[in-house]
Amino acid sequence: MKAITVEPKKPASARYEDFPEPDAREGSVLVEAVAVGVCGTDVEIVTGKYGWAPPGKTRLVLGHESLGRVIDPGESSSLQKGDLVVGIVRRPDPVPCSNCAVGEWDMCRNGQYTERGIKEIHGFMSERWRSEPEYVIKVDPSLGILGVLLEPMTVITKALEQVLLIGQRAYWEPRTVLVTGAGPIGLLAALRLSVRNLQVHVLDRVETGLRPELVSALGATYHTGSVMDLPFEPDVIVECTGVGSVIADSIHKVAAGGIICLTGIGAGGTGYGAVADTAAAVVLKNNVLVGSVNANKRHWYKAGQNLAGADREWLSRLITRRVKPENFEQALNREPDDMKVIIQFSDI
Ligand code: BGC
Repeated sequence: MKAITVEPKKPASARYEDFPEPDAREGSVLVEAVAVGVCGTDVEIVTGKYGWAPPGKTRLVLGHESLGRVIDPGESSSLQKGDLVVGIVRRPDPVPCSNCAVGEWDMCRNGQYTERGIKEIHGFMSERWRSEPEYVIKVDPSLGILGVLLEPMTVITKALEQVLLIGQRAYWEPRTVLVTGAGPIGLLAALRLSVRNLQVHVLDRVETGLRPELVSALGATYHTGSVMDLPFEPDVIVECTGVGSVIADSIHKVAAGGIICLTGIGAGGTGYGAVADTAAAVVLKNNVLVGSVNANKRHWYKAGQNLAGADREWLSRLITRRVKPENFEQALNREPDDMKVIIQFSDI
């Protein structure tokens, strides 16, 4: 079969190539790939900044935002041939740490977790892939291709759960929420926040086009420019850019008792002076700066329900380009109007 593979930490090493059929040891469920979403993490991997091949191998099959169709349900009692499914990304560490032991692999404490298409396990950008039955999530068949948005939705489901839990540390009546970054993660956050009784604001660099349109379709308010120039202090900031200056501004701008949830990975700091200054702002306002990564089965389950209940027309506008696997490089090169770009392996 064909797969999109990469030699992690080696820039420009990605290839669409012949690759052995998935090993039966990877799980009894055999799936035909339908589509795989591309995100910033994939770009980091193909540019040589991130990623790990499986032990003893040099190349990694890329892709963690999957959607596939069951060819053989294997040992699964709940799956049937033809079901639309998505593969869970993370596996618990083998020790296991206390969190992995209770199924919270998203909170792994020793860093020995593995992740499909990212860290030591092959991903989903291959014509066929396998999984252990317990790491396969069935998606509502009426979602069709939109099921490819499940993985990004899980990331937001987990992040917002964290915000709500942290909010319970004191009497908490949030009114305004700011989402920084109107990419797929930011927009899915805005989608979920807009169903609550909150004023939702989204800030991005892009001034016109799909981003402001999708935000206003949710009844939320779109802003460009600097977080510092906003005419209000948000009670919650869901940070989806990973850009150092946006994070620093968010820490200074958030209201007292506010919560900042960081979801973006990237950027980099500007030295200890700036970090100390920023940290002081957090301490003095009793703010919580919370990191959030990955998602556990509870989040995957909830995300499936959230996605199935969302406005299909709005969701479908998120997928702005579909690229054939052999042209995968076009998917990895960002274009100005890109939102979610997917690599489509088979028809749906
Ligand atoms: C993925 C997560 C993963 C994280 C760090 C993100 O792009 O969505 O599943 O945990 O990267 O590797």
